[in-house]
Amino acid sequence: MPRLVLSPKILDGLDFGAPSAERDIGRGLEKCFVESAAYHRVHSGAKTVLLGNRGSGKSAIFQVVAKRERTAGNRVIELSPEDYSYELLGSTMAAENAGSWAKHGAYAAAWKYLLYVLVMKEIARKGMRLTKGAGAEINGYIRNNHANVQMGRLSVLVSYLKRLENIKLGPIEAGAKTRELDRLYKLEEIHSLLPGLKKVLDKQRVTIVVDELDRGWDSSEDAKAFVAGLFQACVTVNALHKNLSVYISLRRELYDDIPALYEDAQKYRDLLETIRWSEDSLLELIAKRIRYSAREMGYDAQVLDRADDLTCWNAVFAPVPGGPVDGSFRYVVDRTLYRPREIIEFCTTVLEVARDRTPTLPLPYEAIRWAERGYSEERTKDIAAEYRFQYPGLLGVFEVFRGRDHAFEREELQLLCLELVLGEIPTSRTSSWLPFCDPDGLIEILWQTGFLTAQPVGDADPADGGRGAFIGVHQVQHLNLAAVQRFQVHPMFRAYLGVQRRNGD
Ligand SMILES: Nc1ncnc2c1ncn2[C@@H]1O[C@H](COP(=O)(O)OP(=O)(O)OP(=O)(O)O)[C@@H](O)[C@H]1O
Ligand SMILES: [Mg+2]
Repeated sequence: MPRLVLSPKILDGLDFGAPSAERDIGRGLEKCFVESAAYHRVHSGAKTVLLGNRGSGKSAIFQVVAKRERTAGNRVIELSPEDYSYELLGSTMAAENAGSWAKHGAYAAAWKYLLYVLVMKEIARKGMRLTKGAGAEINGYIRNNHANVQMGRLSVLVSYLKRLENIKLGPIEAGAKTRELDRLYKLEEIHSLLPGLKKVLDKQRVTIVVDELDRGWDSSEDAKAFVAGLFQACVTVNALHKNLSVYISLRRELYDDIPALYEDAQKYRDLLETIRWSEDSLLELIAKRIRYSAREMGYDAQVLDRADDLTCWNAVFAPVPGGPVDGSFRYVVDRTLYRPREIIEFCTTVLEVARDRTPTLPLPYEAIRWAERGYSEERTKDIAAEYRFQYPGLLGVFEVFRGRDHAFEREELQLLCLELVLGEIPTSRTSSWLPFCDPDGLIEILWQTGFLTAQPVGDADPADGGRGAFIGVHQVQHLNLAAVQRFQVHPMFRAYLGVQRRNGD
């Protein structure tokens, strides 16, 4: 295989990117962007709801879609964390049990109202000369009703919700109540403007991206109604015109935490795109970063483009001595749950550690080992934090594996899980879920969170003593976990927890 030799000077400029896409977009994300099939399905409008784990690249797709839309002269509206505050919603809105006011429907109507108002505001902005016909009508409506530019976007939604709530729960005579509510649900205030809006959209494309819905998530009634209502509104608004697209991103666990969404799964199934990565696409991501950094430092673009992804990797990370050519990449990727943020962080930590100790290229294989402990600790704590609403105290459950062997037969693992469930091995803050699990249920949770890998039945090759490949939840869509007989702690968690590998295994 051809070699690529990079001067150690590159070390100073080598950059694997910022850990989140919002900051990465200013650090070369668009040039290093891996264009997956998921990206194309989203950008074409075929899929409008993006599901993925933390750090899987939801914002990256939205950032690149937004940038490319703007470059093409189209309008983009980005709704981000400061625009929603679940705490505020909870303290402002009456609880569902204060009267049957069908929160989801109310939130859906309020979201539709907000989305249409945002689009109209965008096209009525200065610079768009809408002085005639439909445009003028929209301009007039925005000027008369939403002139207060200081008002946050969420306040438009909250005030609409308040209008609904006041009628639902207020002392109004029944007939009038129905009429008023009907008017609000049908968005009567802006309904007559929609045909005009469609005309404007014939010539002007508008994209709305709603990202980071999980920031500040508190799993409350209002938070769930807020997101479920947004899903419903998204379907309606996307049907208005092909040039108007609303995109939502959501973390997978959050989607699973909202019964209104997965119970209605068939309504949304055709809109959902789940982000998945493979070893090859993660290698491509890092290789793109290496080529980009080297090019910025003056390296010949043609030489870099001729080098394949693994060659680029090996120019920075030396292969495992005496091991296969992709040894160091395998070592790193095996310690991820196939999320780009993980590999970016691992590579960045290796680089930082090595810069201080041996500023040569390729970085020695030991540099990966030096960085592993810190990376493993961070990831273990982050994964536990990711599931803090569903499984509080999960870190304490991970800790129970500290110092143990990395591999378990099912029966052995069941016994350990039984001790955990019964509280014979004490853990803290787990009382809301752990005592209600059975051992197999706990195994399922540890598998779902990525902590355990499993050996699929039928993969046990007698030639290697029945030790076939162990795979994680990030590598398969379906696995009959009940039939699995052997499990391992995922390598990402091992360095921090001091989980040992049995000799020869
Ligand atoms: N397709 C891609 N090509 C290149 N880099 C990517 C791609 N997807 C993600 N990345 C990079 O991976 C990192 C994590 O991605 P991102 O911030 O989009 O994750 P996320 O799913 O939005 O995470 P969170 O749930 O925390 O918001 C960022 O540095 C981002 O630039
Ligand atoms: Mg994000």
